[in-house]
Amino acid sequence: MRKDDTSTTTANIAVADLTEADAHRELDRLASAIHYHNQKYHRDDAPEISDAEFDAMMKRHISIEAAFPQLVRLDSPSLTVGATPSSQFGKYRHHVPMLSLSNAFDDADARDFDQRVKRFLNLPADTDIAYSVEPKIDGLSISLRYEHGVLVAGVTRGDGIEGEDVTANIRTIADIPERLNDSSLAVAEIRGEIFMSKADFFTLNDKQQNSNAKVFANPRNAAAGSLRQKDPAVTAARALRFFAYAAGEMSAWTVNSHHDYLSLLQSWGFTINPYSALTENIEAALRHYQTISAERADLDYDIDGVVYKVDQLDYQQRLGQVSRSPRWAIAHKFPAEKAMTHILGIDIQVGRTGALTPVARLQPVTVGGVVVSNATLHNEDYIKDKDIRIGDLVQIQRAGDVIPQVLAVDKNARKDAKTASFQYPDHCPSCGSPAIRPEGEAVRRCTGQLSCPAQLLERLKHFVSRDAFDIEGLGAKIIEELHQDNMLNEPADIFHLKQYQAALSERSGWGATSVNNLLMAIDQRREIALERLIYGLGIRQIGQATSMLLARHFGSLEQLMATALAARDETSEAWQSLIDIDQIGDSVARDIVRFFSDSHNQEALARLRDVVHPIPPATIASDSPVAGKTVVFTGTLISMSRAEAKAKAELLGAKVAGSVSAKTDYVVIGADAGSKARKAETLGVTILDEDSWIGLCQS
Ligand code: IVH
Repeated sequence: MRKDDTSTTTANIAVADLTEADAHRELDRLASAIHYHNQKYHRDDAPEISDAEFDAMMKRHISIEAAFPQLVRLDSPSLTVGATPSSQFGKYRHHVPMLSLSNAFDDADARDFDQRVKRFLNLPADTDIAYSVEPKIDGLSISLRYEHGVLVAGVTRGDGIEGEDVTANIRTIADIPERLNDSSLAVAEIRGEIFMSKADFFTLNDKQQNSNAKVFANPRNAAAGSLRQKDPAVTAARALRFFAYAAGEMSAWTVNSHHDYLSLLQSWGFTINPYSALTENIEAALRHYQTISAERADLDYDIDGVVYKVDQLDYQQRLGQVSRSPRWAIAHKFPAEKAMTHILGIDIQVGRTGALTPVARLQPVTVGGVVVSNATLHNEDYIKDKDIRIGDLVQIQRAGDVIPQVLAVDKNARKDAKTASFQYPDHCPSCGSPAIRPEGEAVRRCTGQLSCPAQLLERLKHFVSRDAFDIEGLGAKIIEELHQDNMLNEPADIFHLKQYQAALSERSGWGATSVNNLLMAIDQRREIALERLIYGLGIRQIGQATSMLLARHFGSLEQLMATALAARDETSEAWQSLIDIDQIGDSVARDIVRFFSDSHNQEALARLRDVVHPIPPATIASDSPVAGKTVVFTGTLISMSRAEAKAKAELLGAKVAGSVSAKTDYVVIGADAGSKARKAETLGVTILDEDSWIGLCQS
């Protein structure tokens, strides 16, 4: 069946005659047909239907949505841009990763950040740290590579490690110079934000509407859609702009502060945001936030916060990064936008660890330029404490990219309505197993484990997600379909899909090419970074940062598993070695042990090990004498904070542990070192004072 097959009954019913159930089915049918033809047109460049036929489908979809606004979904094709991400652009590995920023939501968070910076740098709490303050532009970040002053590449952020090569399109943007006014640097990578002004966004949408083309939901989407065009001439016709604000790889540095770097960028020919300012300390930075915030509505482009950057580059260097964000910068976000709407229903979703999460289905409402039709209700107690009921008029809030949430109920609006308190289920809505809430925990969980289809599907989705196996073409919908047809029941099955190649190519909406592409994408992941594999397993509490920690520490899945199994005995050395890993506490360790002790997991892992080859993380500095060594810091260090010492040791490839054991290689003692130093003596572990440690690191 082709995706636009009209033989199903609802397709021929006039919009005015549709019942709500019909409309629901019809929207589903049209949405998947639109998606399919969009992909054919934009991604594969192989349209199967005429533009007029496509427009007719889109129009029918829009008029059904207009007649049944309660059925508008967040992922509705009328709200999203046609050009879905594709692999039409070449991949490009960033020479220096593109980081993201951690967030501050109020002044207190910003002051905490300032204190953290000083603690890390071992500076007195009342020291003034100078910050460069800039608006956070709501566009898309891009990295521009210049060699000897000539633009050679423009690359999107992608996952921060690898982006897409959009050089040809970048060259059409007037704010991006083809040549710098200085060709002395062998390499200069400049990073910044591509965006579209509000005025240009409205003009573009008018034009699109008049020619029956897609309209964009907001300037950010318009900028993204305009940049990701196959034909650079289309990008050229769109008014894209660029602000430069950061550096990637640089073959040499001639400045030592961020504000001087911004001036340098200007002298090279870039545009710097006019609200960038150097402030003397965090209080002055917060005042500048107020200034920018007051101007926000009058700016001709969208901003969603203010960025504070430690101005001194040597401090930035020392502060380094944690996970994917620099320690030297933070985004102070503007307060969330709020709106009132009605709750149409409460759905209970089952996550990959079995957690039941209540989600409010809302009468669609626009909040800060985005249509919201779902909001989280957090957990059982949240609904109970606020007495949230189906039918209630509620206040919702949407902050940046965070899931919208229901904040409060207008109980006065409830007067005449016959509503009842919401009965939270005590059985899993997916598999019917009892859903249990352990004493003292906020979350109720399904006990069905892998026999629960919802848990299983969520685990599979997590396994292929961007930060795990990142398999292009294996989205949520396809996973569900393949699971339904019994081709996909556990991660290892993904790597056996080839046996169904012929059958898959016959499926509606698929073709030999897309099946081939999918199988190729899968094959490319047979070799996988160990940390991605660990993260992909979806162990409770194990995020990306902890996965990296475990990968570095154990170097192989076998080693991690063996330790986890031995650690079932909490008096064992294995248990001790697990909780000795810096940042792993009892509760995380127990989740690791629980995961690897489960016999289903063990079997699934054994099958997975037959089809994938994990690559351990490269030791960061294998020639350092401390690489691979286990180090414990104790007492007060003088030249740097404990946090900086740890970060530096890890950067050199050492493992930092929290307590001393026979496996410890070095104990570094500062002033007033206590029991750990004594234990090291007893065990005969090498003890170093701060200076000898620094000497060892430098040798
Ligand atoms: S600095 C290492 N400055 O915000 C820090 N980022 O959540 C690199 N952004 O991916 C980023 N305006 O796309 C920086 N003035 C600004 C920014 C900015 C917008 C974006 C950027 C980044 C995201 C981080």
